[in-house]
Amino acid sequence: MEFDGRVAVVTGAATGIGQATATMLATRGARVAVVDVNEVDGAATVSNIRTHGGRASFYQADVSAWREVEAAIARARHELGPVDLLVSSAGIQRYGDALTTSDALWDEVMDVNLRGAWHAARACLPDMRHRGGAIVNVASVQGLASQRNVLAYTVSKHGVIGLTRSMAMDFAGENIRVNAVCPGTVDTPMLHRAASLNPKPEAVVDACRAMHPIGRIATPTEVAEVIAFLAHERASFVTGAVWTVDGGLLTLIGGTPRVAEA
Ligand SMILES: NC(=O)c1ccc[n+]([C@@H]2O[C@H](COP(=O)([O-])OP(=O)(O)OC[C@H]3O[C@@H](n4cnc5c(N)ncnc54)[C@H](O)[C@@H]3O)[C@@H](O)[C@H]2O)c1
Repeated sequence: MEFDGRVAVVTGAATGIGQATATMLATRGARVAVVDVNEVDGAATVSNIRTHGGRASFYQADVSAWREVEAAIARARHELGPVDLLVSSAGIQRYGDALTTSDALWDEVMDVNLRGAWHAARACLPDMRHRGGAIVNVASVQGLASQRNVLAYTVSKHGVIGLTRSMAMDFAGENIRVNAVCPGTVDTPMLHRAASLNPKPEAVVDACRAMHPIGRIATPTEVAEVIAFLAHERASFVTGAVWTVDGGLLTLIGGTPRVAEA
């Protein structure tokens, strides 16, 4: 199988895109460290992977806390072996503009989305040095553009792209590739939590479907497929890249009216 003999760390792997990625990598032969702050869903992800014959273990860590990340990766290294692949998917979405965002909210979002991705890389990179490896950071279309009222989230995801490019340059000579994916709307708990803030959650999800030129939102597995490709040697000449996985969302000229076809 394509990831046989590989050890993969996936943060945010208890649910959503991280869970789909952890499951896919394990199904394709990797030994997977499921890293998440959420122990209940993280354990369930591991149990599901094992039921299907894959190899995975859960390591609880808050990615914003360096000591926790360092300890979790040290345990994973001891139990699974040196890390070959890292996927950083842990993330949170919060709301506010430049006037309504508090320092506390700014710090919370930066600490998880941006500092967390750096922490995970800092913990895994030493294993990749002299052996090669691959890192895929889950950014967002909001790493390249912005919706309204998501200041901290948008800034953090632009930062994840900077982190990706910077690490790609620093470690290219050691055969460590670092790339980012920028999903549009994906059908995960994050989306449904966001939609539930509106009195008509289903209308929000419908609006998300309608805004993507492809006419629907993504499944977590569709994003995991691109992550798995970037993590694999088949993408051996791809580094520092920022891949949109957005059903055409960022390609559409904003405000383009939908004209009924004759
Ligand atoms: N769902 C979307 O529409 C969408 C779109 C673009 C980008 N993204 C990004 O994709 C990534 C995954 O999000 P998702 O949609 O799968 O959401 P999700 O909420 O299902 O998954 C996020 C995971 O991260 C974990 N997590 C949160 N804070 C953590 C912390 N401090 N330490 C460790 N783990 C933590 C959560 O427990 C959860 O398991 C995020 O970085 C998100 O910003 C999501």
